[in-house]
Amino acid sequence: MKIVHTIAELRATLQPFNSPALVPTMGNLHDGHLDLVRAAKPLGDVTVASIFVNRLQFAPHEDFDTYPRTLQADCDKLAAQGCDVVFAPSEKEMYPEPQGFKVHPPTELADILEGHFRPGFFTGVCTVVMKLFQTVLSEAKGPRFAVFGQKDYQQQMVIRRMVRQFALPVTIVNVPTQRAADGLALSSRNGYLSEAERAEAVQLSLALRALGRDALAAADGLVRHLPALETRAMEALAARGWQPDYLTVRRRVDLQAPQPGDALVVLGAARLGKTRLIDNFDI
Ligand code: PAF
Repeated sequence: MKIVHTIAELRATLQPFNSPALVPTMGNLHDGHLDLVRAAKPLGDVTVASIFVNRLQFAPHEDFDTYPRTLQADCDKLAAQGCDVVFAPSEKEMYPEPQGFKVHPPTELADILEGHFRPGFFTGVCTVVMKLFQTVLSEAKGPRFAVFGQKDYQQQMVIRRMVRQFALPVTIVNVPTQRAADGLALSSRNGYLSEAERAEAVQLSLALRALGRDALAAADGLVRHLPALETRAMEALAARGWQPDYLTVRRRVDLQAPQPGDALVVLGAARLGKTRLIDNFDI
């Protein structure tokens, strides 16, 4: 496995290949990330994982400075999965000058849910993903792939729309969320949890499943009953000591409020102590 730190080295390394499959990450890899690599392996003729903690997607009060940087351990894990190339640029390499040009996703998709609680988050994500696509995928001649996890449901939807609207020559591949034995969605931020918080953490996914069941049970009355069901779900989690941002049922196609007959997804974000967790399920 080759580890490269500059865009020039990366382009030279990828030159002989036609069909790259990219797994963008911020490092501190867990088995959920490795699942993305396993999914990427058969897609193209070279598998590339990027490791870059992207300052642009963190608000000043968020965990950019403390986000774990574990490059050596990450590379060992990627090598064990048969990843071919790791692109681990410095901040200076990715943003040699202040990044004045940014990709602003549409507000109706990017200013709701995660975007409402993390203003500017999806602009930061789209900007770095666009740049990663330009550096990893632009020189290829054959089909190009990028693999994202379903856990970041809204992120994947925003990126799919960016790809569609800019006609980017890349196929986005979804990988279902990997869970611990108790059902907690794997996340790099799970490492922030104390032992007691880790035992409690599965309650977010349990609350979302319960909300999903209640929503399905409401059947034709869903639109009318949904606000009360969502409030009840958030209050139940708050009563256990969480600070919920949102627990909500949306339509899968665009994450807007559901109408009768829509395919549905239940999504949530909540803080447990200092750790903010997100999760979702199709229902
Ligand atoms: O999902 C992540 O880890 C990040 O948002 C991504 C896609 C690597 C962009 O920094």
